[in-house]
Amino acid sequence: MASLDNFVRLPNGVRMPIFGLGTSHGGGYDQESVIFALRECNYRLIDTARRYGCEHLIGKAIKESGVSRESVFIATKMWPTDYGTESAIRAAKSSLTRLDTDYLDLYMMHWPLCPSSVDNVRSTLDNAWRGMERLLDEGTCRSIGVSNFSIQDLIDLMESCSVVPHVNQCEFHPYQNPKELRAFCRENNIEFQGYCPLANGMILKEPPVEKVAQSAGRSPAQVLIRWSIQNGVVTIPKSIKKERIKENSQVFDFELSPEEMAELDTIPMSLRAVDPAELQGKIDDNKPDGYKLPAHLQYVPV
Ligand SMILES: NC(=O)c1ccc[n+]([C@@H]2O[C@H](COP(=O)([O-])OP(=O)(O)OC[C@H]3O[C@@H](n4cnc5c(N)ncnc54)[C@H](OP(=O)(O)O)[C@@H]3O)[C@@H](O)[C@H]2O)c1
Repeated sequence: MASLDNFVRLPNGVRMPIFGLGTSHGGGYDQESVIFALRECNYRLIDTARRYGCEHLIGKAIKESGVSRESVFIATKMWPTDYGTESAIRAAKSSLTRLDTDYLDLYMMHWPLCPSSVDNVRSTLDNAWRGMERLLDEGTCRSIGVSNFSIQDLIDLMESCSVVPHVNQCEFHPYQNPKELRAFCRENNIEFQGYCPLANGMILKEPPVEKVAQSAGRSPAQVLIRWSIQNGVVTIPKSIKKERIKENSQVFDFELSPEEMAELDTIPMSLRAVDPAELQGKIDDNKPDGYKLPAHLQYVPV
């Protein structure tokens, strides 16, 4: 499914860039950097989410960059407090308003979890997916997917869905390589997409990463991004620093050898950048979207 050129083709034929920019609210947000990524570094996939609280800024950044809407692949995500058929549709329309666009390239359910007040989690997830299928049918979304879904979560959803998720976005780096889940996705024609390719910066100093960076004559971050790409996995590193945004994009003019890939695979799978155990609390905590952003960047509904 995934190939080593700059795009992967989703099961419904939609092309998604294999490389893009992450925009989660941890670590801050910088508007100029997003514009720089689009205008100067040829980023053509932006990954965001209602929860990150920056959809309104992404919409403005795309306009200010001068890059046409059609050439940017916008992926965003619904937060579990919006799960349910009609509420999923309303949530997508709110994301469209904030992003100032009339369609999404990819819309995902952010977690296979619901607020604690929900009695029947499984039927609530199924109902939200029904809303996603309607958004696909009416053309609001070009593709629909899920995020952080395990094999069992996918099996449960697939029992009742009409459209199998096009994408499952999950954590992916040498510390966290869920091979069984990736194989399941491959067998069921679901594109496995990776997040946190740099394990949030925690993996950059691992000895095998430094060793391969030295042999390849590239930075640790470039080596890790290349590792994702050569595994055929769409990757979305985040930085708010222009020089790193540029560095992270310069990964299409070299290739890691099989020995270098094997060296990176020796890193023990020992760490997750995102702890799923903390998520239920984050869903129930009622904090506003983008609560980690400074006040002047937060969204004010008009
Ligand atoms: N679906 C989900 O549940 C989910 C969960 C987590 C993340 N995501 C998505 O995946 C994206 C990426 O994940 P992430 O932001 O958590 O982690 P990441 O991309 O693995 O790492 C980002 C961290 O690495 C630093 N960094 C970036 N480029 C660097 C470089 N060249 N050299 C050294 N340090 C560098 C950044 O700092 P500076 O900004 O200071 O450069 C930042 O602290 C997110 O932004 C989000 O869009 C999705």
